[in-house]
Amino acid sequence: MGTDQYRSNFVANEFKIQVNGQEHRVVTRPGRPLLDVLREDLGLTGTKYGCGEGACGACTVLVGGVPTRSCQLTMDSIDSEIETIEGLAPESELHPVQQAFIDQGAMQCGYCVPGQIMTAVGLLREKPQVSRDEIVTTMSEHICRCCNYSRIRAAVEQASQSGAKSR
Ligand code: FES
Ligand code: FES
Repeated sequence: MGTDQYRSNFVANEFKIQVNGQEHRVVTRPGRPLLDVLREDLGLTGTKYGCGEGACGACTVLVGGVPTRSCQLTMDSIDSEIETIEGLAPESELHPVQQAFIDQGAMQCGYCVPGQIMTAVGLLREKPQVSRDEIVTTMSEHICRCCNYSRIRAAVEQASQSGAKSR
């Protein structure tokens, strides 16, 4: 990284981002992670900080519909709409993936769950009918400290069978 680029990472700029269908103006440094902006500036604390290194998946949101680790995405690199766990069920009815996690008991402490759900939603929007192998492969990108993996996979399978694509 050159000196100019290094300096520019510490000079605040204004960014306009779309989150859950709403536009937000954020004044911050370009190199700040989206995760910090979501939690600290916008109060969207459903998205969790786990490792901060792109390894655990707790911070996953959808960016342009693609599951993305928000701890690894800097403000100057965002060019698509962001969806967080708060945007999945703005009204009283839960998203089918959220309902499936409840039905299958797919949470213990719950810390990893928002990220897991956003990845499952991204997967099922792209491919509503997924095989067990595809679920295992995709969800293995997330770490659950409570080791609730089999129930999480069962929840994604239930959501796939119940037509989660519709939302
Ligand atoms: S906090 Fe982003 S991947 Fe762990
Ligand atoms: S339910 Fe506790 S970390 Fe996954």
